[in-house]
Amino acid sequence: MKGVVLAGGLGSRLYPLTKITNKHLLPVFDKPMIYYPIQCLVNAGIDDILIVTGGNSAGHFLQLLRNGSDFGLKRLNYAYQEGEGGIADALKLAEHFAEDEDICVVLGDNIIERNIKKAVDDFEAQGGGAKILLKEVHDPQRFGVATIDGGMVRKIVEKPKEPETNLAVIGIYLYDNTVFDICRTLKPSSRGELEITDVNNEYLRQGKLTCEVLQGWWTDAGTFESLYRSATLIRENGANRMDL
Ligand code: DAU
Repeated sequence: MKGVVLAGGLGSRLYPLTKITNKHLLPVFDKPMIYYPIQCLVNAGIDDILIVTGGNSAGHFLQLLRNGSDFGLKRLNYAYQEGEGGIADALKLAEHFAEDEDICVVLGDNIIERNIKKAVDDFEAQGGGAKILLKEVHDPQRFGVATIDGGMVRKIVEKPKEPETNLAVIGIYLYDNTVFDICRTLKPSSRGELEITDVNNEYLRQGKLTCEVLQGWWTDAGTFESLYRSATLIRENGANRMDL
């Protein structure tokens, strides 16, 4: 399995913090934001990792991360997303990197307390398709929201005004190699982006989507409130813990 961290986009919800730098280079307590999703992959035993970034400060990722030695890696791979076409648009850039392998995709502003090793192992055992991770939240309108029934996903709606549940689809996705065929079929949403929720709903339509509820805390860090909350959670509990 290979890992992909998606760190493109304009980070406009954090303007003016993101006026001259990329959102994923901002500090979250004692590390740059991008360190957390990379560590999440490394803790799951994934050591072949692609960073997809974009915008004006893309070169700073190379200066910061170099060849990945801070994470015990021998090398890192990089790709550049032109514009801000959405999460699934950024994911398309991973096709050549993935070759024929499964991938674990982590959004560059997602941070977790524990680790995803069990979910990765479960996905590898399921033999193809996709797996998403869910977490109960108090503000589901901000996320992709899943309706489940008997442990199976029935429906995912992106940022619903009236969510049916409080189960957010977190930004960690496990996919087989057909994800790139699915990405090619996507049409831009009303916000002009290729949506990862449309990818997940296509796996659902094919009957190949499983889900697990994540243990421990999870947060994004893409708004002022969630950026602040992330730093507090990390300071008080630690992130990417292997001991829980
Ligand atoms: O955090 C989880 C949520 O992330 C999911 O519940 C949603 O279903 C999913 O759509 C996404 O929602 P957001 O609206 O919060 O995504 P955002 O536009 O903030 O992008 C999240 C990350 O994805 C961002 O930190 C970098 C990457 N990205 C995003 C865009 C729009 C890219 O690499 N390229 C892009 O063009």
